[in-house]
Amino acid sequence: MSRNRRGLALLVTVALALAGCTADPKPREAPRPTPAPGETPSVTPGPAGVGDPYFPTAGNSGYDVDRYILKVRYDPATDELRGTATVRATATSELALFHLDLAGLTVRRVTVDDAPARHARDGAELVVTPAAPVRVGSAFTVEVGYDGRPVPLRNETIGDGGWLHTADGAVALGQPESASTWFPVNDHPSDKAAYDFEITVPKGLVAVANGVPKGQRAASDGWTTWRWSEAAPMASYLSTVVIGKYRTSTGEHQGKPVFSAVASTLPRGAADGSVARTLEVADYLESVFGPYPFDAYGGVVVDEPRIRYALETQSRPVYSADFFRSGENTGVVAHELAHQWFGDSVSVARWEDIWLNEGLATYAEWLWAEHQGRDTAQAEFDKRYASSTDRIWQVPPGAPGVANLFSESVYERGGMTVHALRMTVGDDAFFRLVKTWAAEKRNGNATTAEFVSTAERVSGQQLDDFFAAWLHGTERPPPPTRR
Ligand code: TRP
Ligand code: ZN
Repeated sequence: MSRNRRGLALLVTVALALAGCTADPKPREAPRPTPAPGETPSVTPGPAGVGDPYFPTAGNSGYDVDRYILKVRYDPATDELRGTATVRATATSELALFHLDLAGLTVRRVTVDDAPARHARDGAELVVTPAAPVRVGSAFTVEVGYDGRPVPLRNETIGDGGWLHTADGAVALGQPESASTWFPVNDHPSDKAAYDFEITVPKGLVAVANGVPKGQRAASDGWTTWRWSEAAPMASYLSTVVIGKYRTSTGEHQGKPVFSAVASTLPRGAADGSVARTLEVADYLESVFGPYPFDAYGGVVVDEPRIRYALETQSRPVYSADFFRSGENTGVVAHELAHQWFGDSVSVARWEDIWLNEGLATYAEWLWAEHQGRDTAQAEFDKRYASSTDRIWQVPPGAPGVANLFSESVYERGGMTVHALRMTVGDDAFFRLVKTWAAEKRNGNATTAEFVSTAERVSGQQLDDFFAAWLHGTERPPPPTRR
C-alpha cells in the first residue's frame, strides 16, 4: 500500500478500538415510541430524542431548526466559554415545552420570542417551557445565554466527541455527537440548519469554523472576533470550531473563498502541502459526483494527540496531524472531500445508514488513487475481496449496530459494495447514479431504501438481491458479474 493509500478506515478503527471496548453500550435511555426521523410526532410534543434507535436521546422532535446564530467567547487560559445561542425554528407540533440537547454548561437565561421562558436541565437536555405554547406551524426564536467549562462526551465504543481544551486553544469535533457540548442544539442530522458563528478569542489566536469567512475584528480589550457563515443546511455534527495558533492560508477557487489552517506546532511541509491540494481533489471529485455542493473550501490540521481521526466538517474538514507524519497524503483529503457530497450535502436521516457516507467516501479514495495513476478501483476491490476476513462479512454494513458504526465493514465492505454495484450496473449507469443521487438529495437527508430505489431507477435493473447480500448478508457475496 502506498503512503497515500494507508487506510483511513484502519486508522479510525484503531483509534476507536483504543477508545475502549466493543461491547454494545447501554442506551442512555430506553427507546421511546417516538416517530421515525422525518415523521410527524404522534406522541406528546417535545420529547427528548428524535427517534433514532442507535442514539435514543439525540435530537428532539416537535420543531425544525432553520438557523443557529452562535456567539461564543472562549478563554483558553481558563477553559471558560460564554455563549449566546439564537435558535430560529419552526414548530412542527404545538409546543407547551420543548427540548434542546445541551451537555454540561450552566444556562443563565432563556427567552422564546423575546419573552422569558422557564428552563430546567434533565441530563444532557435543556427543557424549555415558553410563557405561552408555540403554535404548530409557527416560526419562533429561542435565545439561550450560558457559560461554563465545556466537557466532551465520552463514548467508549465509538470515540469521544465535543469541545476539547487543547494546549493553545480548543477543538470542537465529533461524530455522531459533539455540538451539544458547546451550544444548545437539535443534535441529530435529520434537522439540518444554516449557521452563523462569532467566535471571540484572545488576540493572536485563530478561530476557524465552517463556511464562508466573514472577517475578523480586533477590539481594544485584547480580544478578536472571528465570523463565519454556513448558508447551506448543515447537520450539527458537521459543525466545528478550532481555536489556537495556526498558519492560515486564504484564496479563491471557482469564485468561492478558500480558508485553510495548519497548527503552527507542525513543521511546514506535508500537512500544508496535502491540504493545499484540496482544490485539485475537489475539482476531480466534481467531475465524478457533480457540482461541489458548498460556498467555501478549506481544511484544518490539528496537532492534538487525542484527535487521531479526520472529520468531514462541512466545507472545511478537520484532519489529525497523524495523517501527514510520513509525508503527503491526499487519500484522506479525497475521503473527507467526498463526504462533502455524501454525508454533508446528502446526509443520513438515521445513523444506521452510515454506510451511505463511508462506503461512498472510501470508494472515492479508490477513484482518486486510480486517477493519480496508482492502483485501479478494480484492483482495490479485488485485493479486498480476495483477502477479506470473516470479520468484515459478519457485520452487515446496512445495519452495523451502534458498536460497529465506524467498523471496517462500514468503510471497506461499504466501498466494496459501491464497486460491486458499479460492476453490476456498468459504468454508464453507475456514474449517472452517483451524480443523480448527489443532485436529487442535495442539501437533504436520505435513506438506504431511497438509494436502492434510485439505483434501480437509473440502471433499470432489479437490485433487491444484490443489496440484500452486500448490505445485509453475513457471509461473502458471490463475485459480482455484469449482466
Ligand atoms: N467520519 C470520519 C471519517 O470517515 C471518521 C470518524 C468516525 C470520526 N468516528 C469519528 C471522526 C468520531 C471524528 C469523531 O472521516
Ligand atoms: Zn469517512
